[in-house]
Amino acid sequence: MLVDGKPMRSIWSTQAGGSVSIIDQTKLPHELVIEQLHSLGDAAKAIATMAVRGAPLIGATAAYGIALAARADASDAGLAEASAVLTATRPTARNLKWALDQMHTALIDLPIDQRVDVAYQRADAICEEDIQINKAIGAHGLPLIQALATAHPERPVNVLTHCNAGWLATVDWGTATAPLYLAHQSDIDLHIWVDETRPRSQGAALTAWELGHQGISHHLITDTSSGHLMQTGQVDLIITGTDCVTATGDVCNKIGTYLVALAASDNHIPMYVATPSPTINWCLCDGRKEIPIEQRDEEEVTCMSGRTKAGQIERIRITPPTTSAMNYAFDVTPSRLITGLITERGLVEASKEALSRVFSDAAANTQANP
Ligand code: MRU
Repeated sequence: MLVDGKPMRSIWSTQAGGSVSIIDQTKLPHELVIEQLHSLGDAAKAIATMAVRGAPLIGATAAYGIALAARADASDAGLAEASAVLTATRPTARNLKWALDQMHTALIDLPIDQRVDVAYQRADAICEEDIQINKAIGAHGLPLIQALATAHPERPVNVLTHCNAGWLATVDWGTATAPLYLAHQSDIDLHIWVDETRPRSQGAALTAWELGHQGISHHLITDTSSGHLMQTGQVDLIITGTDCVTATGDVCNKIGTYLVALAASDNHIPMYVATPSPTINWCLCDGRKEIPIEQRDEEEVTCMSGRTKAGQIERIRITPPTTSAMNYAFDVTPSRLITGLITERGLVEASKEALSRVFSDAAANTQANP
C-alpha cells in the first residue's frame, strides 16, 4: 500500500541468497526505518521484538528466516534447528508454524546444494500468496460495506477495527483492511473507528498510520470506548484480523477482541473476522482450551513511549514503581459471537461444518498430516 504516495510492502527480498528488508514497526509511527535481516538470528529477533508482527507477516519472516539459515547450514539438522529457533519466537500466530511446515516440505527432499535457492523461491512465493489471499479477502468483504453504503446513503459507513490487521501485519493489503481499502478505492464514504489496542497500541501507532497514508477518514478511540459507540448507533460493522482460528471457528486475536465481540453481540452489530486459510489450525476444536496465549513482558503495560514536543522518543513509566502487571497478548472469541469469517474463498460461517465444507482439501490434508 502507499507510504507518502509510494507503494511499499512490509518485507521484501531483492536477490536470491541476499539479505531481507523489513520495516522496523517498533519505530512507527514516528520514524520509517528499514532494517536488513542477514541471518537466522536477525529474523528470529525481528519476530520476537515485534519489529515485524501480525500473523501473516510473522509467517513470511519465518520463511525468509529459514532461507537465511540455509545460507549458513542447509543440512537436515541445520534446518531443524532453525525451525526450532523460529518456532520459539512467538507462540500464538498459526501462520508461523504453517510457514515453517511449508518450508520443510519444499526443502527436505532436495539435495543440500539446491536448498538455498529453493528456500528463497518458496519464501518469495509465500509472500506473493499472502498478497493474493488478502486481495481475495478484500473482494469478498467489499459487498458487506457496499450493502451498508446503499442502506445509509446519507452518511459514512462506520467500521470498527481492533489492533492492526493491516498491510503492516501482512506482506501487503492486510486482512481486515483489504475490504476497507477496496471500499475507499470504490469511492464509498467510509469512516473507521480505530481501537487504540493497549498495551502496545498497534491501533494508535500502526492502523492510524496506515489509514492516514491511504487518506481514509478515521478516529482513534480508547479500547474502552467501543461499547459506548455501539450502543449509540455509531458502529455499522466490525472487522478484525486473527492469529489462529480453530477448525470449529473459534477466533484467537489481539487481547480485547473478545470484549468487542461481546458488545457487538449485545448490540446486534455484525462482527466479521478476516481469516486467511494459513491462519486456520485444523487440528484444534476448542480455542479457549487449546490455543497457546502469549504472555509478554509486564513492562509493556507499566510503561508507554511517545514523541515529546521537542521531537525525542521517550519511554515513561505510568504506574507506581512497585506495581506489577499481567500482559496477556491475545484472547479467544467463541464462534457463536462471530457473524462470519471473510476468507479468500468467500464468507464462511464460523462453524466446523461450514469451514470443512469450504476448505475440504485443507481440512482433509491436515487430518492425514497433523
Ligand atoms: O501482537 P501482534 O501485533 O502480532 O498482533 C496482531 C494481531 O492481533 C492481528 O490482528 C493478527 O495478527 C492478524 S494480522 C492480519
